[in-house]
Amino acid sequence: MKKRVAILISGRGSNMRALCEAMKPADFPAKPVLIVSNRPEAEGLDYAKAEGLPHAVIDHTQYESRAAFDAALHDALLEAKPDLICLAGFMRLLTPGFVEKWAGKLINIHPSLLPKYPGLNTHQRALEAGDTEAVVPEMDAGEIIDQARVPILPGDTVETLDARVRAAEHELYPACLKKLCTR
Ligand code: GRF
Repeated sequence: MKKRVAILISGRGSNMRALCEAMKPADFPAKPVLIVSNRPEAEGLDYAKAEGLPHAVIDHTQYESRAAFDAALHDALLEAKPDLICLAGFMRLLTPGFVEKWAGKLINIHPSLLPKYPGLNTHQRALEAGDTEAVVPEMDAGEIIDQARVPILPGDTVETLDARVRAAEHELYPACLKKLCTR
């Protein structure tokens, strides 16, 4: 039985796309059951629509609190019954209550050498610190599932580093998903 995967996005959705493309082959152990964006204008929604994938917008600006938004997200997920929830450029902090309810099912991708540079402006901070390597970790409640390393080259800008990290992410995230679905 294929694992059921929900993917949460906020913007471009290139990692969501990489995950969905990876899930296309019949022998991949997972399938996308819901894509949720908290932003109605998220570019990634175009892909979900074009591919005919189940998708929903839960616009955080329409909720009076973080807890109310998370409750709506929780309800949508309950209906989709995911075995795994992949955060893929999802730019909302989730409340501890939400994370507890989905404990063991949430995975995230972050474009830095965690525990270095959590949060925003990761590449800018790595460049300013003179780092020579960037790492793409996958986290599960803080546990690192896997990491890919890319070099930081002299003359790198946020844009060139972002492109290199993202290319690595697009390989790594589907590989991690596969690993989690088969272990
Ligand atoms: C990725 O670099 C991811 O690591 C971070 O946000 C970015 C999302 O990009 N959390 P995309 O929306 O998947 O293109």
